Amino acid sequence: MLILGVETSCDETAAAVVQDGRLVRSSIILSQVALHAPYGGVVPEIASRQHSEMLPDVVDRAMRDAGAGWGDLDAVAVTYGPGLASSLLVGLSMAKGLALRLAKPLIAINHLQAHIYSPFLADGAPRPEEVGPFVALVISGGHTCLVRCDALGQYQLLGETIDDAAGEAFDKGANLLGLGYPGGPVMDRIGRQGNPLAVDFPRGRVKRQRTTFAGLDPDLCFSYSGVKTALLYHLRDQPLQPEDPRLPDIVASYQEAIVDTVIERCERAMTDVDTLCVGGGVSLNSRLRARLQELARQRGLRLLLAKPAHCADNAAMIAGLAGAGGGLRGDHALGADVIPALPVCVT
Ligand code: KG4
Ligand code: ZN
Repeated sequence: MLILGVETSCDETAAAVVQDGRLVRSSIILSQVALHAPYGGVVPEIASRQHSEMLPDVVDRAMRDAGAGWGDLDAVAVTYGPGLASSLLVGLSMAKGLALRLAKPLIAINHLQAHIYSPFLADGAPRPEEVGPFVALVISGGHTCLVRCDALGQYQLLGETIDDAAGEAFDKGANLLGLGYPGGPVMDRIGRQGNPLAVDFPRGRVKRQRTTFAGLDPDLCFSYSGVKTALLYHLRDQPLQPEDPRLPDIVASYQEAIVDTVIERCERAMTDVDTLCVGGGVSLNSRLRARLQELARQRGLRLLLAKPAHCADNAAMIAGLAGAGGGLRGDHALGADVIPALPVCVT
């Protein structure tokens, strides 16, 4: 079963070829970061124009790297939400055209469910059906949520952010500190040299009346707007000087406030399951990975972390989930429109 995956939900133009839902034969990710950096965030018009220009070449490269011919493909898989409407539209239109031209099935994939699947792409990782019920943490620039999965295709939202995503908190914090965009990787690097206990930033709590959906446990939800405001006030009261030696301590403490809330929520979510799957761009964070490993050791949990190549947005997770049986198929896929606010539990 050889599937071509296409992913254009935000600012990465990506295509991959995956065999049997597990073996990544190729994965091409063209980052647009340099184009958006001057604006301090993703500009949707620039993103979609760039997808239109680059996607055909990215798909060609993925096919060439995999050593696959068009006739070898069994299906074409593509993200149809959530994400930026104009970006999603480029990928979905091209994938529909390709599937029709090749007379192959189209499989439409929920991007968040693909992040949940991403740890299963690692060599030696178990198959989803081998682990039984598990909890998944999706932590990225656009999303932060905890989901219970009883099986692939059966998802229950446990908690989510009520304001900013964790990656946004990194990006906005880095912006306040003058560290450029995107902030996550540079905060990670600088934070390694600082004392995480130097500044006591707030650990955002969520009141019941502020949860987005009735029935969500507020103690499993996230809030990151407070920590960002606390950093703003800290810098207003004690402005940073050029080459300020306090920078690593401030970054490490800010990072720790974010990571602490994630660890606490994960621990709370693991009541009757023993496997935790983690994916999304922020799962590249070295402090988060170390703290998750510590939690797993202490609690005797099985931790499945996505490989670094599959943490941030990529198309291998799209083709992978399609190969494992996920996604919309047949007329549901060919008739699908983009859904920018597609909830995590809707396939
Ligand atoms: O998954 P992703 O590529 O895009 C979304 O679906 O949002 O995640 C991008 C986010 C950005 O906010 C970026 O700052 C963050 O992931 N990120 C990190 C690290 N690397 C990327 N955050 C913390 N530490 C990192 N090492
Ligand atoms: Zn993503």
